[in-house]
Amino acid sequence: MAIEEKIKELMALREKARIGGGEKRIEAQHKKGKYTARERIEKLLDEGSFEEFDMFVSSKPTDFGNDVEEYLSDGVVTGYGTIDGRLVFIFSQDFTIFGGSLSDMFAQKICKVMDKAMKVGAPVIGINDSGGARIQEGVKSLGGYAEIFQRNIMASGVVPQISAVFGPCAGGAVYSPALTDFTIMSQGTSYMFVTGPKVVKTVTNEDVTVEELGGARVHGTKSGVTHFVADSEDEGLLLIRKLLSYLPQNNHEDPPIYVCSDPIDRLENSLNYIVPDNPNKPYDVKDVIHSIADDEEFLEIHRHYAQNIVIGFSKFNGTPVGIVANQPNYLAGVLDINASRKAARFVRFCDAFNIPILTLVDVPGFLPGTAQEYGGIIIHGAKLLFAYGEATVPKVTVILRKAYGGAYDVMSSKHLRGDINYAWPSAEIAVMGPKGAIEVLYQKELSAIDNPEDKAKFFAEKEQEYRDKFANPYVAAKHGYIDDVIEPRNTRFRVIRALQMLSSKKDTNPLKKHDNIPL
Ligand code: HXC
Repeated sequence: MAIEEKIKELMALREKARIGGGEKRIEAQHKKGKYTARERIEKLLDEGSFEEFDMFVSSKPTDFGNDVEEYLSDGVVTGYGTIDGRLVFIFSQDFTIFGGSLSDMFAQKICKVMDKAMKVGAPVIGINDSGGARIQEGVKSLGGYAEIFQRNIMASGVVPQISAVFGPCAGGAVYSPALTDFTIMSQGTSYMFVTGPKVVKTVTNEDVTVEELGGARVHGTKSGVTHFVADSEDEGLLLIRKLLSYLPQNNHEDPPIYVCSDPIDRLENSLNYIVPDNPNKPYDVKDVIHSIADDEEFLEIHRHYAQNIVIGFSKFNGTPVGIVANQPNYLAGVLDINASRKAARFVRFCDAFNIPILTLVDVPGFLPGTAQEYGGIIIHGAKLLFAYGEATVPKVTVILRKAYGGAYDVMSSKHLRGDINYAWPSAEIAVMGPKGAIEVLYQKELSAIDNPEDKAKFFAEKEQEYRDKFANPYVAAKHGYIDDVIEPRNTRFRVIRALQMLSSKKDTNPLKKHDNIPL
């Protein structure tokens, strides 16, 4: 065959691969409001940057008869490309071929890109849209999943891993996204569950729809399985690009530094008045974050889950920073099981990838009660404590208002190797809040007063006394637990200076096989 013929044949094969499961199935995919695997890659990566691997891989299941068509690429498109000029590896499951179900070769294709990503040190993005294990492949498919899981585990903390779920993701397949650093689900077109509604009905007699069981909203609010809920696939793909802009390529690199046009000494006068005079009145800590970050930018993670703590990425003088902030606007910013887990995982992510952490504290303590105790708040709260204590990245803390009890210790205190710990003049740092303290300290006196008015007067006097004596930043500052009490409007400048000073920080942990974080 002449070379022209051979090239023609190559082009024909490429065209066959590009068409995936065929026009009809592509049309069906579009009708569901979904893009195809290749369209998603095209939209996500820099134009023209995609290099595909294993286009000619195929498998033809014959166990259920021979009239099965053979599809090139075998249901997953894999390769590498760039996002904002930075290398990423990608796999995108193709629902038009056997419903994106996973075969042995399909798994090997994914493993190949993951292995390459580990060798060269670049993020892996997985786009999931699959009917799960390819039924015709039996146990080989299960083995394929586990091969991917093993690589997810080895890559954890080495290269960033991001999962988009833009279609079905059920059974054991859900564990690959769960093992990665961030998951993004598309509203209305994706779902994740270990067992579907039919099995749920059989086992628990519960009637539940796919959406109620594992839709994006459920995982974005109730379970916290997904970090982001995108209104559309387009939004989800943009989120991936945005997220990557804060991250280094791997654990040996620092995050990228950007040119900052927002003056670093910008004063934010409104911050002097943001904390209400009444200590029981809430305010929105996100207003603080927006005021101090470069260009008011903040990419919030887990926006609708455990809203009593806020996490996400901002930049300070062009440097990406992970922010953890108690949210007085929601449950008074109390630390509970979900908030502790949410923040702990984020702190560990930042630490693994050399991203400095800014902690904004306004926390009345841990949430009391049987529901929390039976749910293991002790273990979950310890996760956050552990995460902060082991983190060696620069840690800057600003106590805005309340820092009571164990929650003071946990929230990146000096004692957990907090590098720079500031407090606003409105800070209240003490063993417990004034009300609780008065009730413990003046039990006898209070029970001896019969007249409710006298009792209230006595209480108010003692409360004021306690506030003056303990609920302020100066007791902690006296002991050096607070490096300085700062004027709120100067916060941006002081944080940036602290981060600059810490940019060459080196800290280590003792050598060990791995730690034993309370899981
Ligand atoms: C082979 C599959 C498949 C699968 C779908 N298809 N799932 N082929 N193995 N697991 C094929 C269909 O035959 C169909 O082929 C095409 O993909 C599209 O499927 P439809 O059913 O027409 O699409 P839709 O109505 O949108 O429904 C999607 C679906 C449904 C909800 C995902 O296909 C489904 O329930 N599939 C089975 C899901 C499942 O039980 N998987 C195994 C889970 S256990 P044609 O030729 O008509 O286009 C598991 C264990 C993993 O995954 C453990 C890992 C540790």
